[in-house]
Amino acid sequence: MPTSQIAASAAGTWTLGDLTVNRLGFGSMRLTADPDRDRALAVLHRAVELGVNHLDTAAFYVSPGGILDGQPGPVRYATELIREALAPYPEGLVVTTKVGPGITEDGTFYQASTPDQLRRQVEENLRRLGRDRLDVVNLRIIKKAGEDSVAQRFEALARLQEEGLIRHLGLSNVRVDHLDEARAIAPVVCVQNSYALDKQDDADLLRECGARGVAFVPFFAIAGTRREAGAAAEHAPAVSQVARAHGVTEQQVRLAWTLHQGGHVLAIPGTGDPEHVADNVAAAALRLSAEELVQLGSA
Ligand SMILES: NC(=O)c1ccc[n+]([C@@H]2O[C@H](COP(=O)([O-])OP(=O)(O)OC[C@H]3O[C@@H](n4cnc5c(N)ncnc54)[C@H](OP(=O)(O)O)[C@@H]3O)[C@@H](O)[C@H]2O)c1
Repeated sequence: MPTSQIAASAAGTWTLGDLTVNRLGFGSMRLTADPDRDRALAVLHRAVELGVNHLDTAAFYVSPGGILDGQPGPVRYATELIREALAPYPEGLVVTTKVGPGITEDGTFYQASTPDQLRRQVEENLRRLGRDRLDVVNLRIIKKAGEDSVAQRFEALARLQEEGLIRHLGLSNVRVDHLDEARAIAPVVCVQNSYALDKQDDADLLRECGARGVAFVPFFAIAGTRREAGAAAEHAPAVSQVARAHGVTEQQVRLAWTLHQGGHVLAIPGTGDPEHVADNVAAAALRLSAEELVQLGSA
């Protein structure tokens, strides 16, 4: 089937609380890198046209121009691009955002630690996305030895959930003990950690999420250990071999591998390129054999 006809539903669905999403979604972090606003909007339109109904974002996904330089300019927030492209939001579209890290009006990054700061971040997301209630909010932490409990911050979000500002809660950059600590406070629908073919150190967490019926949503599935630096130009021989065998790209193999890690694993590939959106969605239809998975596991 031509890439452009493959829909995000090809890898099936998962349910976040009462919200059903296609397992192949979209991450919006890369949208603010390109000064071409129309191209960013086209990426979002293309993703939704292809059936993507799970978008990941954050209020601190901001273009490096404008406030980050302290200059007046075309400040672009991924959350506002999402609103401009997609509001009024189509039925069934789920937008997941994250709080914890934040960015002040003068462009300074900070980490929210108090209930007041978390409330302000939730309100900022509501305002920028133009929503009355956020579908899913992940508490994104920075792990620090000796200062490791998520309880106080998760309780603060659970109160905002009770107030009706948040539908479902998740966690990001956590360990299994954080997951269980949070689950004792309120239901957790997803965990978002870095995980990829070449970065499998959270294999236990992936498995434990599955055992608890919690979605595992890896970020950097394509970028892997290169993280913010993005997709690699060079690939492990096994990845290239599998890609050649299927007539697809290495990036598509990395996404397909991700989706083969369990029915509860959701992909949120990030791109600022409308062509790459279609390629990434097409990876939802790519089926890898048991032999190929073994081959890739040691890539
Ligand atoms: N919770 C957290 O702490 C956290 C941290 C980081 C990210 N995230 C979320 O996770 C999402 C995914 O992470 P990410 O966007 O950094 O990384 P990613 O999805 O692993 O990869 C993005 C990189 O791959 C390239 N790419 C994407 N599709 C491609 C294709 N089909 N062919 C070739 N190159 C391709 C992109 O460049 P092009 O733009 O040129 O396509 C970019 O360099 C983010 O967008 C964000 O929503 C969460």
